[in-house]
Amino acid sequence: MKQDAQDALQQVKHLHAATTDQTIAGLFEQDPNRFENFSARCGEIHFDYSKNNLNVDQLNGLFALADAADLPGRRAALFSGEHINVTEDRAVQHTALRDLTSTTIMVDGENVQPEITAVRERMTAFSKGVRDGSIAGQGGPFTDIVNIGIGGSDLGPVMVAAALTPYQNGPNVHFVSNVDGADIADVLSSLNADTTLFIVASKTFTTQETMTNAQTAREWFVERCGETAVEAHFAALSTALDKTKAFGIRDDRAFGFWDWVGGRYSVWSAIGLSVMLAVGPEAFVEFLGGAHAVDQHFQTAKASENVPLLMALIGIYHRNICGYDTHAVLPYDQHLHRFAAYLQQLDMESNGKRITLDGDDVVGQTGPVVWGEPGTNGQHAFYQLIHQGTSIIPADFLVAANANDPIGDHHQKLVANAFAQTEALALGKSRRQVEQQLKKAGIATDKIEALVPHKAFPGNRPTSTFLYPKLTPHVLGQLIALYEHKVFVQGVIWNINSYDQWGVELGKELAGELLPMVKGVKGEVDAEGRNGSTSGLLAAFHAMRQG
Ligand code: F6P
Repeated sequence: MKQDAQDALQQVKHLHAATTDQTIAGLFEQDPNRFENFSARCGEIHFDYSKNNLNVDQLNGLFALADAADLPGRRAALFSGEHINVTEDRAVQHTALRDLTSTTIMVDGENVQPEITAVRERMTAFSKGVRDGSIAGQGGPFTDIVNIGIGGSDLGPVMVAAALTPYQNGPNVHFVSNVDGADIADVLSSLNADTTLFIVASKTFTTQETMTNAQTAREWFVERCGETAVEAHFAALSTALDKTKAFGIRDDRAFGFWDWVGGRYSVWSAIGLSVMLAVGPEAFVEFLGGAHAVDQHFQTAKASENVPLLMALIGIYHRNICGYDTHAVLPYDQHLHRFAAYLQQLDMESNGKRITLDGDDVVGQTGPVVWGEPGTNGQHAFYQLIHQGTSIIPADFLVAANANDPIGDHHQKLVANAFAQTEALALGKSRRQVEQQLKKAGIATDKIEALVPHKAFPGNRPTSTFLYPKLTPHVLGQLIALYEHKVFVQGVIWNINSYDQWGVELGKELAGELLPMVKGVKGEVDAEGRNGSTSGLLAAFHAMRQG
């Protein structure tokens, strides 16, 4: 954090220290309009942050912190295509991919808008052809699509395809990511090669997991349909079009993107092709439009109404002032069952950093651990800890007012549960309330005394609620973009580079060194110089290995 920002943070810390007895319940008592005053609207999304333990002065202090970190200047740099990813010397322009206007978008002195449109038009024509059967495989129209990718080349499409299940009206989509052969074997086992289209998705086209799975898919396919059919059944999504060609993918089946699109920000690019095939180009465009609306909101809404800014500042408050280590994302929307996994890469790969943009050690904490599962399932698993454990876990609740597939009163029950949880977390249940309840139920006095501490809830546990009309492509685009900009703002305040990911490299490097030792013949493996545990594990592995 830069000095000015540190000073501004210090001010908020003082305000926090002066209100140690402040509670969420108390804040609601003080301000009958707290819900209205601590809510903001972004497009179709109502953001209720009233159940966080924050008062107006503290919030104003956080706005001052954003200014002290020069958020306006850094936001302008992001949108104007400056090379804000300094360690890779790249612009960060995923927002350009969802700008469907013909606005000029300059990156490195070039207007990239025509190129973006050209790729999207090719994706659209290809998707239409596959969906109407005019682009077909050896055995007729494609029935199944397999996206082979990992990280940003997988998590975005997987999450979005799952979220838009009710909008899927194209071929079935499958995803293979893990280098564990079980992943591809499970997917291939149900497929007919002659009606399957493989999409190899990799920004670099060098990632070990993806290239291994792509090779296996190719061999499986060739065994069944022959070498000559490969070009009709394989497509690629990459920035490395020379490499896709070398893999044997026809130019008209290769869809490019650019180094200014980070992997975890790439679902808006050609990486979204599997989604477009599944839901159709129109729905995909709506998805882009939702994100673009948030890009506009982020740039123009004033601080008190700026939802990504509020999300980021509340997160900073929890992380840097309250010292909370994790952040839960709890969608009460089954189709968002991969949303937390997606956000893990978006947030933790972006802001899991300990060095500032100036190359110094960060003072204080950066990104929290992000995790979550859909409600109501989480309620029957880990909510015990959220309600009564020793750690405080701020949480986001995502709730649709309407189900895509309404059945009976399922949706009302789902919503009641979501609202009940945030109320329980905020207000808790006092010992007195528990005592009265047990007395009313006729429980003996000595038993009541023993039970009260166990059955009381401390409350005062912060949550924010995102309420939206329905999980449509447009709303989904908005939700993702909100989190993207939240991550950006936090990165600005921490003065870190949210767009590189050097922390994934060491493991890759060592895996490369260890592979020959893992593959080696028992008794002949030379693990000299490796860490004692690693060489011990190698020996134990070879002893257990069969064949
Ligand atoms: O895990 C590191 C990473 O580089 C991610 O940032 C990226 O999304 C993923 O690997 C996949 O990379 P690629 O698309 O180049 O195969």
